[in-house]
Amino acid sequence: MKSLLLYFEDEQASAERLAAAANLAAACIERHRFPDGELRLRLPPTLPSRVVMFRSLHQPNEKLIELLLSCQTARQLGAKHITLVAPYLAYMRQDMAFQPGEAISQHLVGGFLAQLVDAVITVDPHLHRVQSLKQALPVVQAMAISAAPLLSDVIATRHKAPLLIGPDEESQAWVSLAAARHQFDFGVCRKIRTGDHSVQITLPPVGVKGRHVVLIDDIASTGQTLAQAAKALSAAGSASVDVAVTHALFAPGALERIKNSGVQNIWSTDSIAHPSNVVNLAASLAEALGHDLS
Ligand code: R5P
Repeated sequence: MKSLLLYFEDEQASAERLAAAANLAAACIERHRFPDGELRLRLPPTLPSRVVMFRSLHQPNEKLIELLLSCQTARQLGAKHITLVAPYLAYMRQDMAFQPGEAISQHLVGGFLAQLVDAVITVDPHLHRVQSLKQALPVVQAMAISAAPLLSDVIATRHKAPLLIGPDEESQAWVSLAAARHQFDFGVCRKIRTGDHSVQITLPPVGVKGRHVVLIDDIASTGQTLAQAAKALSAAGSASVDVAVTHALFAPGALERIKNSGVQNIWSTDSIAHPSNVVNLAASLAEALGHDLS
């Protein structure tokens, strides 16, 4: 029996795109919320031995409980192997205790997910101080694909010779990958963050005057990182500033903040459904699933 892809109704569109690309049957997990906020989930009563659980983990807290309930239930209903496809993987940025007593969320959430599933496929996980996804999420198979080449392809259709800029050292991996795809020039800023909304950016020593600049990052949350970088680039004489991000988290106020900083276009992938989506990840995720399921 073939694998079955399970999803939740709020992600039906992207789950169905993946199911079509991977040639898998798909079924929705029914969800009922009790008046006190607790959840009741219902899965198809008979499951094949291999199940693909599709859940992008933005706004993750309740979704982690959903995964606990749905993956354990899937096992009881016959699943022997579960692959979690989480285009956005949450809690990866807190990879150390920056202050004494802080929870190291990356280890804890990674360990929690590893107890539920056998394999994980994700996109551009924020791995700063660890070398591989498997270190953060110790499952048998952990696969991270990058959207940087796909975002680079979009940029290539919009600008002839853009300058790609990563807004902080942590974006080096993505910006260099995106630049290599089309031999674009690139540079990486330095960033000092002193709070959720407090960010200082120093531009790299590359000429930005008159250049069409595209800021590339994995995540846009408050938008402060991109907004401060865009302001610095405009002040340095850039001809235009656009933004390309993998994960369009966009906390309340972020889009306005980025637009008000002089950014013209915002492009993102559909790892999180958002009006800025221009890259469809289904084919790349299906290819990764092909490796996982073969
Ligand atoms: C951190 O280094 C990430 O790569 C992003 O730059 C960061 O999470 C963006 O956050 P915000 O939009 O809140 O500045």
